[in-house]
Amino acid sequence: MSTLVVYFSYDGNTKFIAETVAETISANIMELKINKKYPAEGFQKYFWGGKSVIFGEKPKLINEPVDLNQYDTIIIGTPVWAGSFTPPVKSFISQFKIRGKRIALFASHGGGGAKKCFAKLKKELSGNEFIGEIDFVEPKKNAEENSSKAVSWAKSLTDS
Ligand SMILES: Cc1cc2nc3c(=O)[nH]c(=O)nc-3n(C[C@H](O)[C@H](O)[C@H](O)COP(=O)(O)O)c2cc1C
Repeated sequence: MSTLVVYFSYDGNTKFIAETVAETISANIMELKINKKYPAEGFQKYFWGGKSVIFGEKPKLINEPVDLNQYDTIIIGTPVWAGSFTPPVKSFISQFKIRGKRIALFASHGGGGAKKCFAKLKKELSGNEFIGEIDFVEPKKNAEENSSKAVSWAKSLTDS
C-alpha cells in the first residue's frame, strides 16, 4: 500500500498529528503551503481565517508538483476553521480532482465542529472510499496521549 499524508496546519497541531501518522506507517508526507500569510495573532487570525472559509477561498498552493497516481491511499488532515476544513485543503482537493482513492481524514480543533468538517470534506471528495476519520482537541497540549491515539489510528488504517 502506498500512502500520502497531506495536511495544512497553522499553529502546528495538525502538523504534529500528520508527522506522527506518517512516521507510524512510513507514508510520504506533504504540508500544504500558500504564499499568502494569514495574520498570526488573536482576533485578526480568526477574522481572516473565518472569512476565507466562508467565502470558499482557494489560495494558490506553492508546493512542488506531486503525482497522486502513485498513491492508493491519501490521508488528509486539517484544523477545523469555522466548522469546516481550511482553505488550502480546499485548494488541494479542487486542484487534484481526487477519485477512486482510499481516503482517511483527521482534524484538530478547539472542541467543536469536527463532525461538520468531516461531512463537508466527504461531500467534496465524493467518488472515493472512506476508510477512517478521527479528531483531536488541541493535540499539542496533551502531546503524549494524542500521539498514542494517532499511532493506533494510523496502524488501524493499514489493516482496513
Ligand atoms: C480561523 C480559525 C477558525 C477556527 N474555528 C474553529 C471551530 O469552528 N471549532 C473549533 O473547535 N476550533 C476552531 N479553531 C481552533 C483550531 O481548529 C484549533 O486551534 C486547531 O488545533 C489548530 O490547528 P493547527 O495548530 O494545526 O493550526 C479555529 C481556529 C482559527 C484560526
